[in-house]
Amino acid sequence: MPTPTDVKRAAVLGAGTIGASWAAWFLARGLQVDIWDPRPEAEAYVRRYVADAWPAMSRLGMAPDASPEAWRFHASPEAAVAAADFVQENAPERLPIKRELYGRIDAALRPDAILASSTSGLIMSEMQAGFRSAPRFAVGHPFNPPHLIPLVEVVGGQETAPETIQWCLDFYRHIGKKPIHIRKEARGHLANRLQAALWREAVSAVVTGLASVEDVDTAISAGPGLRWAAMGPHMTFHLGGGEGGIEHLLAQFKPAFESWWETMTTPELSDENRRRIIEGVHAEAAGRSMAELVAERDAVLLPLLELVSRRG
Ligand SMILES: NC(=O)c1ccc[n+]([C@@H]2O[C@H](COP(=O)([O-])OP(=O)(O)OC[C@H]3O[C@@H](n4cnc5c(N)ncnc54)[C@H](O)[C@@H]3O)[C@@H](O)[C@H]2O)c1
Repeated sequence: MPTPTDVKRAAVLGAGTIGASWAAWFLARGLQVDIWDPRPEAEAYVRRYVADAWPAMSRLGMAPDASPEAWRFHASPEAAVAAADFVQENAPERLPIKRELYGRIDAALRPDAILASSTSGLIMSEMQAGFRSAPRFAVGHPFNPPHLIPLVEVVGGQETAPETIQWCLDFYRHIGKKPIHIRKEARGHLANRLQAALWREAVSAVVTGLASVEDVDTAISAGPGLRWAAMGPHMTFHLGGGEGGIEHLLAQFKPAFESWWETMTTPELSDENRRRIIEGVHAEAAGRSMAELVAERDAVLLPLLELVSRRG
């Protein structure tokens, strides 16, 4: 295995929303990036994406030798991975598509290269089964957009070598990410399960008429969401217990939480319920384009990231 701090070349397979963003981050860390995507327009998409992301990359601090030009688009995945120390796969979230891709690159990978998948929730043991590279293959799940959000979830499968897990944690930390090790395989890993739990209740609130889409969003963005960038839900509740901390909070709110949990149900994503969510989101967007919404998000996110990274 290459030393995590010595990685010079990263390959990006699949250059859509996540792959292009990973490419921007790898470039900002001074890596040479080899890209493949079957979509012919992907090369132009990456060029635009990197150009758009570069001012944010400069603001957050780049490697001295970073260049937005240090990438090449290849004609095949085999060619893209041939010289890579590390491969980040970002193909569509479908097991057969991903496995077909791994079948193509398995023999082309350098025997010491590490392969990580951005999968949002597929099971690594099912992804890696039968491939020569299985011991060097792990999940490296980022959050959208990976060039801004620090979290990366590292998950091994049954055949992933323990050194691969450690390597991925060291590599992601070295390139400025905040990796965590998820110790068991679970659909959705950890953070997407947390998001799914919250979104289940958010959708329920809309379809049962408890609140509008916009008010549900405000309930998070003007409420607990502000605290969650500073500390997670457990530590937030430790403070919620006042001087008595988490012990007092659990003593006081145990009956309340248990009774709230009892009333929570899973909404059906029926045509009608999906329509209500879609209409609510468009009403909340009020004609703002996707680019305008991204700019609005980043105007908050960038100063927040600067604050959080100063905290260390
Ligand atoms: N969108 C998110 O918020 C998010 C967040 C974290 C992780 N992910 C994960 O990242 C991966 C990619 O998701 P996305 O949102 O970027 O999807 P996307 O649809 O934006 O991009 C997928 C890209 O893969 C390309 N592609 C199609 N067939 C391919 C193949 N056989 N091999 C390689 N590439 C192929 C497509 O042309 C497209 O450019 C998924 O595994 C997803 O679960 C997504």
